[in-house]
Amino acid sequence: MTPVRSSQKSSKREAELLAAIDLDRLPAHIAIIMDGNGRWAKGKHLPRFAGHRAGIGAVREAVKGCTRLGISFLTLYAFSLENWKRPPAEVRFLMSLLREYLKDAVDDLNENNIRLESIGRIGELSKAVQKDLERAVERTRNNKGMRLTLALNYGSRAEIVDATRELVKRGSRTGQLRIDEETISQALYTRDLPDPDLLIRTSGELRLSNFLLWQVAYSEIWVTSKYWPDFTQLDLLQAVVDFQKRERRYGGLGQ
Ligand code: FPP
Repeated sequence: MTPVRSSQKSSKREAELLAAIDLDRLPAHIAIIMDGNGRWAKGKHLPRFAGHRAGIGAVREAVKGCTRLGISFLTLYAFSLENWKRPPAEVRFLMSLLREYLKDAVDDLNENNIRLESIGRIGELSKAVQKDLERAVERTRNNKGMRLTLALNYGSRAEIVDATRELVKRGSRTGQLRIDEETISQALYTRDLPDPDLLIRTSGELRLSNFLLWQVAYSEIWVTSKYWPDFTQLDLLQAVVDFQKRERRYGGLGQ
């Protein structure tokens, strides 16, 4: 198939998917577990690093797709607490890729009115990463469009531990310890974000991998067998179409 025909085919598919989406019932918050960079590279006889680099292209696709649709919140699982167990050279590469992204993406984020934020144990990242992150957050602070949150050095159980410690500390300061769903939600890193409506995971794995465990209690989960670097805007549109076909009952009987 020639490139022209394949792009005609994908624009036809895009038009079909867009026509199927009800813009009044969009998921407000989409969260993504970006998985399969290593396997993508292996399949092409490339080093794992090449998979991570190609993953940046898919990050841009996801951000662009969400912006075009008018999604309010996009959260990406970019580096987990468990990712430190990888070989030091891979961790160093992921960090340098992150720094590159933080520097390169700001103009594009500003052009698209996107505000960048992060969640996770940010204080444990290197000073250089923290500085680049602070600068990108600062430079996009006034944008009023989509909120793009990068989960960095993030683990959901650690988040719940941090929230609990925070509540206990507050309790001993004020003499009042209130533990309920509202106080815990408000002590999580995600206190400013609504719970995700749609959780996307690539590479076919049916796991949550310690990502937003509290927050995805009622999220719809959509899994594609594609590896993350191959994820496109068409996949995002397909996920939204499928999301809109589901009936969300939140444990009740529905309508
Ligand atoms: C999983 O692939 C992906 C990651 C470890 C992190 C995701 C990172 C990126 C997409 C690049 C950096 C992102 C930003 C926002 C700058 P894997 O290595 O676990 O793949 P595998 O399971 O096939 O080995």
